[in-house]
Amino acid sequence: MSWHQAQSTISLDWILEFTNKNDAIIDVGCGVSVLVDNLIDKRLKDHTKKVYFHHENILEFNSNHQFSLWHDRTVFHFLTDEKDQKSYIKKLTKQVKKDGYFLLSTFSPNGPKLCSELNIVQYDVKKSRNY
Ligand SMILES: C[S@@+](CC[C@H](N)C(=O)[O-])C[C@H]1O[C@@H](n2cnc3c(N)ncnc32)[C@H](O)[C@@H]1O
Repeated sequence: MSWHQAQSTISLDWILEFTNKNDAIIDVGCGVSVLVDNLIDKRLKDHTKKVYFHHENILEFNSNHQFSLWHDRTVFHFLTDEKDQKSYIKKLTKQVKKDGYFLLSTFSPNGPKLCSELNIVQYDVKKSRNY
């Protein structure tokens, strides 16, 4: 790992502010992030059976659930092919409730050009408006 944090501060604060305890949340490409652990601590306590892990490409993910919040920290930016980017946004739109939220973070044009030694696409607010 190139870096690690013990508490998912920014995402966690945001999720706690905009969702309720019973809202369905998806953390796309969670990796070894502690976001889910932090949410369990804050919200679920002994209800860890309410956490489901799916091991698959997000582009192939399908669920009958619609989510109140879709969280993606540095996953979308790995999609360098425009067709994949559009397919991801289509999926996000389908899987998030109409009054739901998404929090999508990527590297900015001032940030690194690689993530985990892989090519990424950098975004700023202006570029994200293309979607
Ligand atoms: C840079 S890590 C970020 C992990 C976590 N979101 C965090 O903030 O600590 C990117 C993660 O996205 C996952 N990933 C990359 N492409 C993916 C895809 N197409 N579908 C699902 N997961 C993907 C990787 O396996 C990795 O766990």
